Amino acid sequence: MAGMPEQKESFNVEEVFQRVVPTYDRLNHLFTLNIDRRWRKRLVKRSEVRPSSRVLDVCTGTADVAIALARRFRGVSVDAIDLSEAMIEVARSKVRRAGLSDSITVAPGDALGIPFADRSFDVVCNSFGLRTLSDPARGVREMARVARVGGRVLILEFAPPPEGLLGSLYAWYLRSFMPALGGLLSGYRTSYSYLYESVSAFLKPAELLEIMRTAGLREVGSERLSGGIAYLYVGSR
Ligand SMILES: C[S@@+](CC[C@H](N)C(=O)[O-])C[C@H]1O[C@@H](n2cnc3c(N)ncnc32)[C@H](O)[C@@H]1O
Repeated sequence: MAGMPEQKESFNVEEVFQRVVPTYDRLNHLFTLNIDRRWRKRLVKRSEVRPSSRVLDVCTGTADVAIALARRFRGVSVDAIDLSEAMIEVARSKVRRAGLSDSITVAPGDALGIPFADRSFDVVCNSFGLRTLSDPARGVREMARVARVGGRVLILEFAPPPEGLLGSLYAWYLRSFMPALGGLLSGYRTSYSYLYESVSAFLKPAELLEIMRTAGLREVGSERLSGGIAYLYVGSR
């Protein structure tokens, strides 16, 4: 592809996120013009959480989804896991500041080997983390494994830029604009180059839906968000 480096950069995913933790939330909102908040709200709305539900937020990052769920459904119990110690630290302090320590437990945990027994949760979600896994299909299988029969699995994720003029503009924004500005504001350009690499190499919506079905999920469907920049995938166990 024109303008692409001959050789793909290789990324250490843990490092990619570790570095940008201090600016992570602010830059997410800036680069998406706050639309990311709307996408996460959509996930919360479609989660069908009840006050007695047990919820798992995989790849929780700074716990935005876990906090939104606990705020919207008082009494719910949320486990939030991530691999990055730096993210976990920020997530814990956000949960404390939000006064939600009784509802949300943040702990280290690998999305590729979720540290909970089969069928432990009514709702299992992952926002913008699946694409960062070395084996996304395994990540989906793990989410399905820990969901109760009748439980819900929700995945919010970017899709590769669509075809056409709008898709090309979006690809340019991801490939050139974001690394330049993200590098300037966070001090780590590589973390923002990673975004383009991981988004453009990620599964197409139809492929991810097939992976969800193969993982044993039923009534699988997707919702196209903001012209196909992101998708919300929902399935039942
Ligand atoms: C793009 S961030 C998304 C964070 C958050 N869910 C959000 O909506 O902003 C991806 C997160 O996945 C985490 N992550 C990457 N690989 C992981 C793994 N194998 N297990 C658990 N978390 C992982 C990263 O540390 C990072 O916090």
